[in-house]
Amino acid sequence: MIKGFLFDLDGVIVDTAVFHFQAWRKVAQKLGGDFTEAQNEQLKGISRTDSLKKIIEWTQAEVSVLQFQELQEQKNRWYLDLIGGLGPEDALPGAIEFLRRTYSQGILIALGSASKNAPMVLEKLGVTELFSAVIDGNNVINGKPHPEVFLKGAEALGLEPSECLVFEDSIAGVQAAKQGGMSSVGIGEAETLNANIHFESLGETTPELLAAQF
Ligand code: BG6
Ligand code: MG
Repeated sequence: MIKGFLFDLDGVIVDTAVFHFQAWRKVAQKLGGDFTEAQNEQLKGISRTDSLKKIIEWTQAEVSVLQFQELQEQKNRWYLDLIGGLGPEDALPGAIEFLRRTYSQGILIALGSASKNAPMVLEKLGVTELFSAVIDGNNVINGKPHPEVFLKGAEALGLEPSECLVFEDSIAGVQAAKQGGMSSVGIGEAETLNANIHFESLGETTPELLAAQF
């Protein structure tokens, strides 16, 4: 029986995936290359460090240890500029209502995000109080597709992985859920994500329906 929902943040609750994409493209261009929206699917859900490693691989740039550090910091400054004016209106369709309804149904809520900016983004959306636990990029050693972020989320809720349902928009995140022994709800295309069930947005379903189905 499902007693807890573990939510990814970027691309599931809030429309920030596009800002990560834009900021990483600026990094790639600075390195003399670029990458496509299709390639960007591989960056979704991946930590800042692992994302930069991929971009360096794609652009075949030579980057020193010091430059690597600087590029990560630069990307984050560009990203923070892009989300400067972020507010509840930037939540994805139906996401805040879905979270509120989950909460009022007594289903426990945890965040399982790769982003170190996650607590701040939750604050900007005004939904922090709905979360019983927040596990983000600051709390894990292994990034998605490793299941650590979701296993820690389940543990923080006092639940078994089998009692939790994961909400993800990334290939890496769906794999993390699988490896952690959890079912997943994909926000995006079934062919890309390969989750257990898929929706365009959380507005298309309800917490009660999903909790009963899994
Ligand atoms: C994930 C995003 O949620 O967080 C990735 O899907 C991003 O695109 C990752 O790289 C790390 O985020 P941050 O904010 O710590 O750089
Ligand atoms: Mg995501």
